[in-house]
This record gives sequence, structure tokens and C-alpha cells, in this order.
Amino acid sequence: MGLFSTKNVSDLQVEAESSHSLKRALTATNLVFLGIGAIIGAGIFVLTGQVAATNAGPAIVLSFVVAGSGCLFAGLCYAEFASMIPIAGSAYTYGYATMGELIAWIIGWDLILEYLFAASTVAVGWAGYFSAFMTELGVKLPPALMGAPLDVLGTHHLIRAQICVDPATGGVAYDAVSRALVSGADCAAKGFTLTGGILNVPAVVLVLLLTTLLVIGIKESARFNNAIVIAKVAIVLAVILFGIKYINTANWHPFIPPNTGEFGHFGFSGIVRGSAVIFFAYIGFDAVSTAAQEAKNPQRDLPIGILGSLAVCTVLYIAMALVMTGIAHYSKLNVPHPVFVAIDAAGPGLKWLGFFVNIGAIAGLASVVLVMLMGQPRIFYSMSRDGLLPPVFSKVHPTFRTPYVATIITGCVAALIAGFFPIRLLGELVSIGTLLAFVIVCGGIWVLRRARPELPRPFRTPWVPVVPILGILICGYMMSTLPGDTWIRLLVWMAIGLCIYFFYGRFHSKLAAVGNVR
Ligand code: ALA
Repeated sequence: MGLFSTKNVSDLQVEAESSHSLKRALTATNLVFLGIGAIIGAGIFVLTGQVAATNAGPAIVLSFVVAGSGCLFAGLCYAEFASMIPIAGSAYTYGYATMGELIAWIIGWDLILEYLFAASTVAVGWAGYFSAFMTELGVKLPPALMGAPLDVLGTHHLIRAQICVDPATGGVAYDAVSRALVSGADCAAKGFTLTGGILNVPAVVLVLLLTTLLVIGIKESARFNNAIVIAKVAIVLAVILFGIKYINTANWHPFIPPNTGEFGHFGFSGIVRGSAVIFFAYIGFDAVSTAAQEAKNPQRDLPIGILGSLAVCTVLYIAMALVMTGIAHYSKLNVPHPVFVAIDAAGPGLKWLGFFVNIGAIAGLASVVLVMLMGQPRIFYSMSRDGLLPPVFSKVHPTFRTPYVATIITGCVAALIAGFFPIRLLGELVSIGTLLAFVIVCGGIWVLRRARPELPRPFRTPWVPVVPILGILICGYMMSTLPGDTWIRLLVWMAIGLCIYFFYGRFHSKLAAVGNVR
């Protein structure tokens, strides 16, 4: 039995149809909402300002276009796979069908970076917003219970603003760790620092509450998500529609500020560097595919969910970036709450919107955590059903019909990471992990079109192999711009995963036992 034995796609299709353990409750609208729930979050509410101020200026719009195209090409490939193999494991299952068990394991292990770590990362971001909001309302929370004990020094572009909670005030403090971050000076110092915090209680509580909801039911979780998504999209739309008339077009000139002489600081290189950072804002549309076994009509609705949510968010992002850089000069946006700052710059006429922007960010980030915490156990569920993880991961609750053990394990680990760990260390891992999955999915579509052209494909990725190749190139390029440290962490993470596979998965693989190989 080789490491590259693939699962038979026809068997997977039968398995999808005959599997009744998870509850099929999600409609196409639910799926689009799940996608939007996972996508709109820290990216638009924080990173937009940072990228506009330090990388691209008003041309951040073009960064959004570049990152969005990489996601669109990957999304089209995801949509073909999701319609063809509507099984809960997402890219892990697609990898199993095309590239074999070892690659499938690698993708499954890699997806933990995307889902579980993103849940923790965004939960900490949420806690930062939450505590700032509470401080504004005059509620003082004990600083020691508002942050992780350790933080890392250094330049970490991802969500740095939100997760930096000032131990003195409990509010969002851009400069809690290093004043250099505030002035935008190069923060070259590396290492760990004590923050004075003990545990990030709000982040832990959020993760545990959402985990409970996810155990209770997919329908209940989807309803909760729908409500949050309506609120956050309404607020994003309000910023765009009410903000338009405050745009001062002088702020868009020059649209592409000249390069400062350093790669990635404005000019063309700033646009491409910015796209790799802003990519984080798009992460999440693929989470739709993890709910395949709970969709009522997966073959039709998964492509709608994946591509629909991506399309809605791309349009919103571009409009929001134009409005923000139109109202406030891009140089003013390098703050933890750039949307709020842009609204503030509009003057008294838009003051009322500031409160809602904070609510939008808090709600928005919570739904990202929810959908990420939903995706992870469903990937574990598929890996466990294939024997690569212990059987307990695929236990389905008799009443709620959710993968409750995997959900609880995911929630507890995510809560621990969110509560104790220096999330900046992990933030970029989320991006690199997701990009790696996208590259493999794009490659998989290309491979499967050649290897099994006859398989029924309810949704077909257009212009194969051009679309997958472009997806691989753009996502691969974005990966290449991430720091060397992040690559090393990715390799270490993968090495741990391989040890687990060779000591456990390989001996318990059901495919190996049955010899069900094509
Ligand atoms: N796309 C998600 C966010 O921006 C992960 O928070």
C-alpha cells in the first residue's frame, strides 16, 4: 500500500450520498452567509488601514484586486471539487481523491493552521475590540485578565494592532509591547516579553460560548451566524453609502504613491506586498466546503456558497477601501481601528456611525471565530472516518447530530491558544497555511481533469488549466512574500504532522486496511 494511494472518487460520491450521520440543514443562503461570516473580520476592520498607510496608499484597492483574483481562481477550483465530492473534509478530502493519503494528511494537518489557529487569532482580536469598547462605555475590566502572559516583539503585520492589549488600561493599545510600533519605526527587536497579563479571559469565554453553540446544532449555529452577518454587512454598507458623500478626491492623488526606495513601500511593489497582507481579509470562503455534509443540496449549493460569498465580500472590500482612503488620507489609517478613524475624519455628520462601526467589528470578528470553529471539527471528522485520527473525532451526538467530541476538543485547544499564547507568532501561519491549501487544491483540479476526465462534475472550473495555474502562481507568490520565520514554523508544524502520520495514521488508515485503491 503506497503513500500515494488515492481514494476512489466514485466511492466518495457514494459515501456522500449514503452518509446520514450529520444533519442536512443548510440552504444555499445559509452557505453564502457562512462564507461571509468567515470572511469579513479583522482583515477589513484592521488590516485595510495598515496596508493603505504602509504599503499601497489608495492603491490598496489594487491589492484587494490581486489578492481577490488569487482567491477567485482558488475558489473556482474549490467549487468544482465541492460539487464533485461533497464530503465534510474540504481540501483534505480533495487531496485524498487526487494526490493520495500522504498529501491528504499534509493538507488536513495544514488546515489546522487555517481553521483552529485563525479561530484563536481572531478571538484575541475580538477581545481587543471588546475591551476597548467596554472602556469607552466606562466599564473597566481587570487588565491582568485581558491579555496573554507573553507577547512577541518584532515586526508582525498581522492583526498586531488588535491583539495588543494594554495591560494598564485593558484597552486596545497599539504600543503595549513596543512604542516603536506606534511611530511605524522598524521594530527589529525579537524575543518574548511579559505583558503583565495572566489570561485573555474574553477571548477564552468567546471561544467556549461559540463552541457550546456549535455542539448544540448546525442549524442553531447557522441562524446565529445569519443574524451577525446581516448586522455586519449592514454596517459595512452604511459606511460605504453614508461615507461616499464625504469623499475628498484629493486624497486619492497620487493613487499609487511613489515607491520610497524600499521594496513593498508604495509603488508597484507596495501593491503586491499589500496583497499578501490583505489576503488575510479573504480567508474563510473555503470554510463553506467543510459544511458539505450538512448542506441540503451540496452539489448545487456549495459552489453558490463559495463563489457567492467571495463575490459579495470582494465588492464590499473594494468599495470600503475606496471610501476609507477617500475620506481620510491614507497616511492617517495606520491605527488599530482604521474604519472608525476614517468615519471620524468625515466630521460631525458621521459621528453617529462610529458606535455602529465598533459593534460591526465586534460582531464581525465573532462570526469569523464561529465559522472557523465550525470548519475544524468537520475536517477532523473526515480524517477520523478515514482512520487517520482516532475514532473519537468522528463521534456524532445522538440528538444534536453534530461532531461534538471534535468540536469540544477544537474549542478547548483554540481557547487555550487564545488565552495564553502570543498570537502574533501564529497570525502569519494562518495565511501561509491557507495559501498552501489553495495551491494544492488548484493543483488537484488540474490533476483530476487529466486523470479522471469522465467523472460527473456538477460545477466545472472554467479554462482549465489556465485558472488553476494562475491560482497556483498568485497564491504561491503571496506565500513567497511571507517572512522566513513563518516558513520555518510551517516546516516545523508539518514535521510534527508527519511524525503523527507515520506513528499513527499509517497504521490505522482504513484505505490501507481495505485496499480500496484505484
Ligand atoms: N477573513 C477573516 C478576517 O479577516 C479571517 O478576519
